[in-house]
Amino acid sequence: MKKKHLATAFAAVLLLSGCQSQFNVSGDENQSHPEKKATKEEKVDKQTSNEFSIPDSAFNVIKEIGGKKIIQNPDNMYALVNKTYALPESYIPRDLVRANVSYSFGDAQIEKALMRKEAAEALADMFNAAKQENIELFAVSGYRSYVRQEAVFNNDAAKKGIEEAKKLVAVPGESEHQTGLTMDISAHSVNLDVVQEFENTAEGKWLADNAHKYGFILRYPKGKETITQYEYEPWHFRYVGKKYATIIYENNLTLEEFFERAHEAK
Ligand code: DAL
Ligand code: ZN
Repeated sequence: MKKKHLATAFAAVLLLSGCQSQFNVSGDENQSHPEKKATKEEKVDKQTSNEFSIPDSAFNVIKEIGGKKIIQNPDNMYALVNKTYALPESYIPRDLVRANVSYSFGDAQIEKALMRKEAAEALADMFNAAKQENIELFAVSGYRSYVRQEAVFNNDAAKKGIEEAKKLVAVPGESEHQTGLTMDISAHSVNLDVVQEFENTAEGKWLADNAHKYGFILRYPKGKETITQYEYEPWHFRYVGKKYATIIYENNLTLEEFFERAHEAK
């Protein structure tokens, strides 16, 4: 029952703010159509054991602005940021900190060293666990502001052209790096670069096999390029917390597929 009250309150907030959920979270139709109630409660009962039943607060809340779908709850730790759902230009996470890990650029106090606090702590746990197994990881690029992402994209586009750049670099607003929940990771075995050969290194393999235990997912996997709409990036890890990271890992999903299943489980 508590869950239902929360869902109702959430729907009311959505109505008041004029927002639309990515997956139609409005759902308190039971209030105005009591005849539907039994059906919905039966559905909820069936779902109690479904690992894809996640709270409404985990979904994007979307508002269409100037023809773009803009995320209205960007502080959501599970925000789905991709070529369909963008962050507001003005969004800057409030809890950015430097992670207690080794960086490819040493001690330089620069923006890309930052992550949101929870993700930074999980990153340090992961790097420490790797070290116990003689795997030495280096953080290369974490938080990127909208303006910084614009510079990164323009730089790449100037070298390869816009369409080629879009396969590997997000346009500003569409990058997970702006969430502060992502870190590009490398190792000395590939000269601290972010390159596809990282997948064949001991460090790349360790991350692919273990990152979920610390709450991270390999966000752009090989073979899922048509779903993520990005090339394989064995270096790009996104924090979603241990619970969802493990579900995603065990079911071999992308974040897009995870939310598709979560939507179906509603
Ligand atoms: N390389 C990823 C897609 C980004 O630019 O956010
Ligand atoms: Zn990245």
